[in-house]
Amino acid sequence: MSDLDLPVPSIPTARDAVRALRSSQIREVANAGFGVEDVLPFWFGESDRVTPAFIRDAASTALAAGATFYTHNLGIAPLRAALAGYVGGLHGATSLDHVAVTSAGVNALMLAAQLVVGAGDRVVAVTPLWPNLVEIPKILGAHVETIALGYGERGWQLDVEQLLAALTPDTRMLMINSPNNPTGWVMSRDDQRTVLDHCRRHGIWIVADEVYERLYYADADTTGAPARTAPSFLDLAGRDERVICVNSFSKAWLMTGWRLGWIVAPTALMEDLAKLVEYNTSCAPSFVQQAGIAAVQQGERFTQELVLDLKASRDHLVRALSTVPGVDVKAPPGAMYLFFAMPGASHSLELCKALVREVGLGVAPGSAFGPQGEGFVRWCYACDTARLDAGVERLKRFLGRPGAA
Ligand SMILES: Cc1ncc(COP(=O)(O)O)c(C=O)c1O
Repeated sequence: MSDLDLPVPSIPTARDAVRALRSSQIREVANAGFGVEDVLPFWFGESDRVTPAFIRDAASTALAAGATFYTHNLGIAPLRAALAGYVGGLHGATSLDHVAVTSAGVNALMLAAQLVVGAGDRVVAVTPLWPNLVEIPKILGAHVETIALGYGERGWQLDVEQLLAALTPDTRMLMINSPNNPTGWVMSRDDQRTVLDHCRRHGIWIVADEVYERLYYADADTTGAPARTAPSFLDLAGRDERVICVNSFSKAWLMTGWRLGWIVAPTALMEDLAKLVEYNTSCAPSFVQQAGIAAVQQGERFTQELVLDLKASRDHLVRALSTVPGVDVKAPPGAMYLFFAMPGASHSLELCKALVREVGLGVAPGSAFGPQGEGFVRWCYACDTARLDAGVERLKRFLGRPGAA
């Protein structure tokens, strides 16, 4: 048989579940901006400031001392102990046996999903939502049902009865992100209690993405002092219940590029979690974990100041956008984004591409966060106010251009 007789190989492709994943619409907008000079980017969820020096110094010191080896799958014991103390201080007693270090929040979400869902499982998620939470279970072959927050006079609100109705006894997992990206919505303690009780009754896992828990702008209940953290499922649930809490160093200590996060989960899961870490990443980088200890142990003042700065930026941008005709914007209680309606946003992807092409303004389309986000755009306000003002000027220029609606 000659080569010419061999069957023509089909085009190599990934699994159907992977090919069906949504690609990032934020990236699509960024691509539309290629070649445009002087773009003001507010589309990604990170600050324009570098990680504080005391954390960078801790990493340099660790590197110089030779922290370049593999570590335990679940993280180095001093970091797990530091995290247990930190989580305990915010949410009540937590032991090292309930804490695992991960390669940032997104890896923690993947690990959490791999722990509890498989092909054909039913997963419920509350949207609009950072797409990773919806797409990750789909990689595992799960079926994701979404429940939409409603938008009204009081901003984004959850209809908790609607969520309970979706949490049928055959549901395997609820994925919930509060404070929420993109809306800034924060789940109330009462709603958390109601949902936790319901999930307890039906044996449904709760995967709580609390990476923005420290970016919370409400006062504490009684004293009027700023609250240190948003309400957390960890405040209500025992550590050995079916609750997996995902967190990250990215937001509270400006460590997005370091890829460090953690999971709080029942001790009974830890042995299996260690296996999954082994087969995903084996461990988080050693010197990065050392830097994480510095963040947790010395970073409290930094985080509290960061929150005050972010709150001021949020209020500044809300005021500035409120002067733009047709913009409907409210100050949300958490995270680092404004998610607002504006003229043209009913086709938000096209609008955001036009904004970047025509005036160099980079914001994220609401549709990137699920169909329920259509009609809105997301603007990350974690930057100085002069840059926010420059962005608002560009928005006004765009809306005032000849032929604009
Ligand atoms: C809701 C939410 N969860 C998790 C993450 C993951 O962050 P990282 O992987 O940087 O820890 C992000 C990042 O923007 C996010 O918005």
